[in-house]
Amino acid sequence: MKKNEQLLLENKAWAREMVENDPNFFLRHVKGQKPDFLWIGCSDSRVSPDTITQSQPGEAFIHRNVANLVVPTDLNLLSVLQYAVEVLEINHVIVCGHYECGGVKAAMSQTTHGLIDGWLQHVKDVYRFNRAEIDALPEDKRINRMIELNIREQLYNLAKTNIIQSAWKRHRRPHLHGWVYNLESGLIDPLLELTPESFLDEEIYVLKNA
Ligand code: CO
Repeated sequence: MKKNEQLLLENKAWAREMVENDPNFFLRHVKGQKPDFLWIGCSDSRVSPDTITQSQPGEAFIHRNVANLVVPTDLNLLSVLQYAVEVLEINHVIVCGHYECGGVKAAMSQTTHGLIDGWLQHVKDVYRFNRAEIDALPEDKRINRMIELNIREQLYNLAKTNIIQSAWKRHRRPHLHGWVYNLESGLIDPLLELTPESFLDEEIYVLKNA
């Protein structure tokens, strides 16, 4: 059987099972969605947000791109963010990166990869901002640390958007979380959290001195 046919068959089986367990499952969804968090993650097939957090349909609003970047001119991401924060009124935004990230590895390599090099420039910037720390590490530790620093940098980018700044001023939400997923253990480690208070006090201090 072709992969695309198999996917459709799996879908039929899943839909049947969901209705068997909960006859109103899909009826509820037709009425609308009320997820409580926005997940910004990497496109990597091994890091499926719903699966690794056991979230059900309706629980997670999701945006994914290569290397989980928050680029302030990315209209796609900003539209997702605005809808999540202003219309869905979510309380948490999670930027979740992962170790073994091919996007970060590619950005740190000396080779070119075509079109995606332009996108990965944003990861190269993270290296430039943190070069002293990265270069001081043994070579086998550099990628993992870059992955963590990339998550931190993307969280700051998020905090600085007009959407988050005005939501913080008006509603004191959402909280921003930087997480990293470990492919070896399947576990997520929280790295940092930004709230309206923390960002304005200590975290902005870190930013200025980075
Ligand atoms: Co990745």
